Amino acid sequence: MPLHAAPDDTCAQTCPPLEITVIGAGYVGLVTGACLAYIGHHVTCVDSNGAKIAELLNGAIPIYEPHLVELIALARQRGGIEFTTDPADSVKRSDVVFIAVGTPPLATGASDLRFVEAAARQIGSAMDASRRRVIVNKSTVPIGSGNLVGMLVRDGATHDPEIQFAVASNPEFLREGSAISDSLFPDRIVVGADDPETHAIMELLYRPILDQSFIAPPFLERPAGLNPVPLVKTTLPSAEMVKYAANAFLAMKISFANEIANICERVGAEVADVTLGIGLDSRIGGRFLSAGIGWGGSCFGKDLQSLTHTAAEYGCKSLLLDATQEVNRRQRQLIIQKLQERLKILKGRTIGLLGLAFKPETDDLRDAPSLTIAKRLQEMGARVRAYDPVAMDACKREYPELAIHYCNSVEELADNADALVLVTEWADFQELSFPALASRMRGSVIVDGRNAFNADDVRSAGFDYCGIGRGTQRVAVVRRIRSEASRETGPDVVSRPAAKSAGG
Ligand SMILES: NC(=O)c1ccc[n+]([C@@H]2O[C@H](COP(=O)([O-])OP(=O)(O)OC[C@H]3O[C@@H](n4cnc5c(N)ncnc54)[C@H](O)[C@@H]3O)[C@@H](O)[C@H]2O)c1
Repeated sequence: MPLHAAPDDTCAQTCPPLEITVIGAGYVGLVTGACLAYIGHHVTCVDSNGAKIAELLNGAIPIYEPHLVELIALARQRGGIEFTTDPADSVKRSDVVFIAVGTPPLATGASDLRFVEAAARQIGSAMDASRRRVIVNKSTVPIGSGNLVGMLVRDGATHDPEIQFAVASNPEFLREGSAISDSLFPDRIVVGADDPETHAIMELLYRPILDQSFIAPPFLERPAGLNPVPLVKTTLPSAEMVKYAANAFLAMKISFANEIANICERVGAEVADVTLGIGLDSRIGGRFLSAGIGWGGSCFGKDLQSLTHTAAEYGCKSLLLDATQEVNRRQRQLIIQKLQERLKILKGRTIGLLGLAFKPETDDLRDAPSLTIAKRLQEMGARVRAYDPVAMDACKREYPELAIHYCNSVEELADNADALVLVTEWADFQELSFPALASRMRGSVIVDGRNAFNADDVRSAGFDYCGIGRGTQRVAVVRRIRSEASRETGPDVVSRPAAKSAGG
C-alpha cells in the first residue's frame, strides 16, 4: 500500500494514506475527492467531460460550492489531488475506486444506469492483478446495483482473469451548499460490503473522519460537541436501501408539513407555529418540517421515483411514497393558484421570480420548483422574469427553452411587475426594502413560497402578502400573543425557525 506524506496531520502515522480514484467529478465526486485528499489520501478525480477537467486543471471549479476552491488548494498540499479524463493509470495504482457519476431518472422513473455501467466497464478494463481493489458505489443506485457493477467490472477485465476486487456501497448524504461540512463532519458513514476485508479497507479510508482526528480546515469550524462519527457496517443491498429510505423519509417530512400547511390555511392556523410545536417533540424533530413550495434538487424526486419503481418490480405499491410525490407536485401548482386568486388573469401579467436554484448556496437547478413554475406561468400567457444571485448563468445555459427574462437586480425584477414570488430563500432576499420594491411595481402581490418574509413588514409596505399555510389575517394576533408570552415566561418561549428549502 503506497504511503504519502500528509503534512501537519497527526493521523498520518496511524492511518496510512490510500491511493484513490474518483470517477465523476461533479458535486459528489469533487467534494468527496477533495475531502479524502484533505484528510491525507492521494486522490485522482476523473471526469469524461474534458471542459470540466480543463477548468479544474486551471484552478477553477465547474460548480458553485462554498469553500471548495480553498479545500482543493489545501488538498493539493496534503494528500494530493489530480484531475484527468483518463482513468487508466490512476485505476491501476489505486486501492479504492469510487464511482460518483450521475444516475438521472428515466421516463419510467427507473434510474438511468448508463454512466455507472460505463464507469464499471472502464474500471474493469484498466485493472490488473497487481493488487486487490475495492470498487465503491457512491452514486445513488437501485438496490442490487452492487452486483451489477461487479458483473460489469469483470466483463471489462477479460484481459486478466487474475484480477481481484470487491464492490462496496457507500451512499452519500451530503447537501449541496454545505457539502464540505457534511462530508468532513457527517452524522454517520454507511458502508455495505460482502466481506470483512472490504469493510476493513473502508474503515481505514474513513478512519480520520470516524475519529475526527484531522485538523479542521480554517474556513470550517468542527461542530461543537461532535463525537466520533458512527459507522454503519452492513450488506450491499442494505446500504443501497439506506440512501433511498433516508431521502424518502426526508421528502415525506416536508410533504407532511405541506399537507398540514394546506389545512392550516383553511382553518386559520399558522403552520410555522404548528411545525414548531410538533418538531420540539424529540421523537419528531424540527428539521425538514418547513412548509413552502416543496422539495426539489437532483436527488429527492429521482430517488423517490427510483424506489417506487424498485418496489413495483417486486409487486409492492408504495402508498406513502406516491402521496409524498403527489403533495410535492401540488405545492408547485399552489403557487399558480395563489397568483390566480389574487391577479385573476395571468395572461399578459409580469411575474418576477426571486431565486431559481432549488435551494440557497447552490447553482443546481435540477428539478428546481422555479422551472415548473416558470413553465406553467408561460403556458398560461404570463411573462416571467427572474433574479438569482448565482444560478442565472446555469439556467440560461441548461434551460434555453424557458424564455425567462433575466434581471441584474431585485430592483430590475420589480420594475412594473404585477407580482413577485419568493422561490429560493437566498440570505440577500432577507435584506429587501419592501417599500422601495412596492414603489417600482405595477401590482402589489408577493407570494412567499418559503414563508421567509415577515408578513407584517411586507403588508405594511402596501403588499398583498400571501405565504403557505399562514393563518394570514392572524399573524398580528400571533405576534402579540407571542410577545406577551415571552414577557411572561422569558426564554421558555421558543421562536419559530425560518423556513428552509430542501431537497437533495
Ligand atoms: N448532488 C447531490 O447533492 C447528491 C447527494 C447525494 C448523492 N448524490 C448522488 O451522487 C451521484 C452523482 O451526483 P452528482 O450530483 O455529483 O452528479 P453530477 O452530474 O454533478 O456529476 C457526475 C459527473 O460524472 C461525470 N461522468 C459521467 N460518466 C462518466 C464516466 N464514465 N467517466 C468519468 N466521468 C463521468 C459527468 O461528466 C459529471 O461531471 C448521483 O447518483 C446522485 O444521485 C448526489
